[in-house]
Amino acid sequence: MKYVRMPIEIESPEQMGYSTIKNNLSESSYTDTIFKDLNLNMNELVICYGDHVGNPNLRSQIIKDEASNLTINDVLVTAGAASALFIVSTSLLSAGDELVVAKPNYATNIETPKAIGANIKYLPMTFENNYQVDLEALRKLITPKTKLVSLTCPHNPTGTMISEDDLKEIIQMVEASNAYLLFDETYRDMSFKFKLPIAASLSERVISVSSLSKTYGLPGIRIGWLMTRNKNLQELFLAAKEQIFICGSVVDEEIAFRYMAKRQDFFPAIRKDMLEKFQITKNWMESQDVFEWIEPSGGVVCFPRIKPDLKVDTKKFYELLLTDFKTYVGPGHWFEESDRSFRLGFGWPKQSELKDGLVGLEGALKKSIWS
Ligand SMILES: Cc1ncc(COP(=O)(O)O)c(C=O)c1O
Repeated sequence: MKYVRMPIEIESPEQMGYSTIKNNLSESSYTDTIFKDLNLNMNELVICYGDHVGNPNLRSQIIKDEASNLTINDVLVTAGAASALFIVSTSLLSAGDELVVAKPNYATNIETPKAIGANIKYLPMTFENNYQVDLEALRKLITPKTKLVSLTCPHNPTGTMISEDDLKEIIQMVEASNAYLLFDETYRDMSFKFKLPIAASLSERVISVSSLSKTYGLPGIRIGWLMTRNKNLQELFLAAKEQIFICGSVVDEEIAFRYMAKRQDFFPAIRKDMLEKFQITKNWMESQDVFEWIEPSGGVVCFPRIKPDLKVDTKKFYELLLTDFKTYVGPGHWFEESDRSFRLGFGWPKQSELKDGLVGLEGALKKSIWS
């Protein structure tokens, strides 16, 4: 493994210091939860090693409301979706192995295969193609050597989604070639209009990954999971988990279990606020003439770009945005894309901060246009 720090982590707001930013439109999750709002008394918790697969009560909550064929034995609890992705890539790929990854993507989905030295074939998702997965392009990229196809839906950084029919067609492609599909569905609970089935419920060749970080604003307890019905893969992934962590944090897992057991007390308010913030962003997008976007279908991020006909000093734009407008977004290079595009996270800030940040984006851009 050749590890390299990723710009998205080096330049992340938590590493920069939250105090330098007033309008934080760079986050990819819903507003962080405050511990006291969970009203938990965990004084009796024994701080022991936990179940290596993950607290069974938590695993049962994870699949509880799902109309699927999954059981708690198909769920492996991990330290966030990030470590689930790491476990899958490092378990299934070696240097030189071929995989297909959608690009742009959540950086780890690309960076870990890169660090392994895998032979990456990119499936481009472009503005011109509405940031959709092009099924015919994917079909051409999959070969008998393909070990893994890696997709994210709802997509980060664009918020686009694929249809259930397309998901099923992709699974057929993967099955026909003896590859696996890694389906990062971390934003699944935040789909606006329709929610896809858990992809792992559709085939033994699919591994679904998700977490509590994004929808529920709980990134600090580092609880995620992977799901697969394939028993051999579960055993392999458990071996990887045991070598890295032995087991997860019993404290984090207990918080997660108790949260999940009463998530209906929290989720309706989260969803309402998230949809209102999406509407604020949409209204703003329609009201201005310097940026354009592909409207997201889920999640709390979108990936607008500066209109192509505008000549803009992008370095100045991001500098002014932070210094004069105290606003921060995720520049395109976080995703190995042009800095004329940026990830805008609308779910994390307060509505007032979101509105101020959107005004700031327009202000900073207008001051950065070449005359
Ligand atoms: C698509 C996607 N997958 C996985 C992760 C990892 O998140 P976590 O490890 O907090 O669950 C992120 C975080 O930004 C993400 O956007």
